[in-house]
Amino acid sequence: MPRSIRPFHPSDLGAIYRICLLTGHAGGDSSHLYANPDLLSHLYAGPYPVADPGMTFVVADEQGVAGYIVATADSAGFERWREEHWWPVLRAQYPLVEDPHDGTEDHVLVARFHETWPTEDPVYAEYPAHMHIDLLPRLQGQGLGRALIETLADALRARGVPGLHLGVSKDNPGAIAFYHRVGFVTLEEHAWGLTLGLALG
Ligand SMILES: CC(C)(COP(=O)(O)OP(=O)(O)OC[C@H]1O[C@@H](n2cnc3c(N)ncnc32)[C@H](O)[C@@H]1OP(=O)(O)O)[C@@H](O)C(=O)NCCC(=O)NCCS
Repeated sequence: MPRSIRPFHPSDLGAIYRICLLTGHAGGDSSHLYANPDLLSHLYAGPYPVADPGMTFVVADEQGVAGYIVATADSAGFERWREEHWWPVLRAQYPLVEDPHDGTEDHVLVARFHETWPTEDPVYAEYPAHMHIDLLPRLQGQGLGRALIETLADALRARGVPGLHLGVSKDNPGAIAFYHRVGFVTLEEHAWGLTLGLALG
C-alpha cells in the first residue's frame, strides 16, 4: 500500500496517541518522561479530532497510521469547547499532584489540564486556526510534512479561514527550520520558543 494522506477516521485515535508520545520530546521519543502514556496527547492531539474531525488528517502506510496533523479552525472556539467538554472529565480524573522527583513529568502535564486557557489572543485575529503535526521517523524527510500542511491549508481555505498559527519549542530547531521552509513566519518570540504564522489568503 502506498503512503497516503486521508481525512481522520475514529479508528485513528489510538495511533495518534502513540505517535504523539513517540515524537513529544523535541521531536523525539518522550516515553521515558511519562508514567501515563496518554497525558501528552490529552493535551496536544486528542481533543482536536474529537472537537472537529474535519480538521485532522493522517498519513498511513502498510504498517498503519504513522503521522498526523491535528488542528482547529477557530482557536477561541476550541478553547471554549475544551473548557466545557474536555477538561472537566480530565480534571476530575487527574487531580493536581506534586513532583515525585523521579524524573517523570506527568505532574507538569496534569497542571496544564487545570489551567485556564485563553479564549482571546492578538494572534487569533489574523491567524485563528492552530495545529500540531507529528510523523514517526519512518515517514520523516520525504515531503509528507509539507503535504500535510498543504492539505490542512486547503481545508482551512475552504472554510474561509485567513491564517494558521502554532507554537514550537526552541529545543526543536529541526521543526523550526521545517516550518520556515514551508512558509511560516515568526509572529512572537517567547522564553520557551516561537509562535509562527502562515497566512492563507
Ligand atoms: C517536523 C516534521 C513535521 C517535518 O515533516 P517532514 O515530512 O519530515 O518534512 P518534509 O520532508 O515535508 O520537509 C519539507 C521541507 O522542510 C525541510 N526540513 C524538514 N525537516 C527539516 C530539518 N530538520 N531541518 C531543516 N530543514 C528541514 C525539508 O528540507 C523540506 O525542504 P524542501 O521542500 O525545500 O526540500 C517531521 O519531521 C516530524 O514530525 N518530526 C518529529 C515531530 C516534530 O518535531 N513535530 C513538530 C513539533 S512542533
